Amino acid sequence: MPEVRSADRRDIAALIDLLAAQLSEHGLAAGREQIRRGIEVAFETGAPLLVAMQGPRAVGACLANRIASVEHGGTVLFIEELYVAPDARRRGVARAILSRLLADSRASGMRAIELEVDEGHEPAGALYRSLGFEANKRTPWVLDLRR
Ligand SMILES: CC(C)(COP(=O)(O)OP(=O)(O)OC[C@H]1O[C@@H](n2cnc3c(N)ncnc32)[C@H](O)[C@@H]1OP(=O)(O)O)[C@@H](O)C(=O)NCCC(=O)NCCS
Repeated sequence: MPEVRSADRRDIAALIDLLAAQLSEHGLAAGREQIRRGIEVAFETGAPLLVAMQGPRAVGACLANRIASVEHGGTVLFIEELYVAPDARRRGVARAILSRLLADSRASGMRAIELEVDEGHEPAGALYRSLGFEANKRTPWVLDLRR
């Protein structure tokens, strides 16, 4: 079983590797500097940022953000990124990360956890379904303010 812990500054290089691979697997372009800035914001804002360690190696990462929600009447967690290195998959790493995230969320009074799954992405769908997540009818929209 991996050790799942909150990431800190000694994890930055490994987190950049994992999250760069995540974005590239999803066909999204993001340079290492852009990813580093996102990680810095997570540290500055105290956003949940978890790393899964197998021995000395970081094999998985998860970044989430807290959202004020009137729909849920409190704080909701949004899972922004979840990634497990390809050679470490199907060994319970993502389940271990999410179990920790769910336990922390329940303990801190979080009301719900939200996330997005790419259409047809069965591994992620199966993972989240197995933990009790359900798809809703909403479609994510975005406005890129850098353009
Ligand atoms: C999706 C992902 C995070 C799963 O990580 P993982 O560590 O391999 O997952 P786990 O070993 O903890 O699997 C837990 C459960 O998820 C489901 N699951 C995971 N991978 C699966 C696959 N390839 N096919 C079908 N079900 C899968 C299974 O129900 C599995 O339980 P089981 O092994 O007892 O059958 C990983 O494949 C990944 O990083 N993919 C690319 C990034 C990504 O898609 N992230 C999610 C974005 S929403």
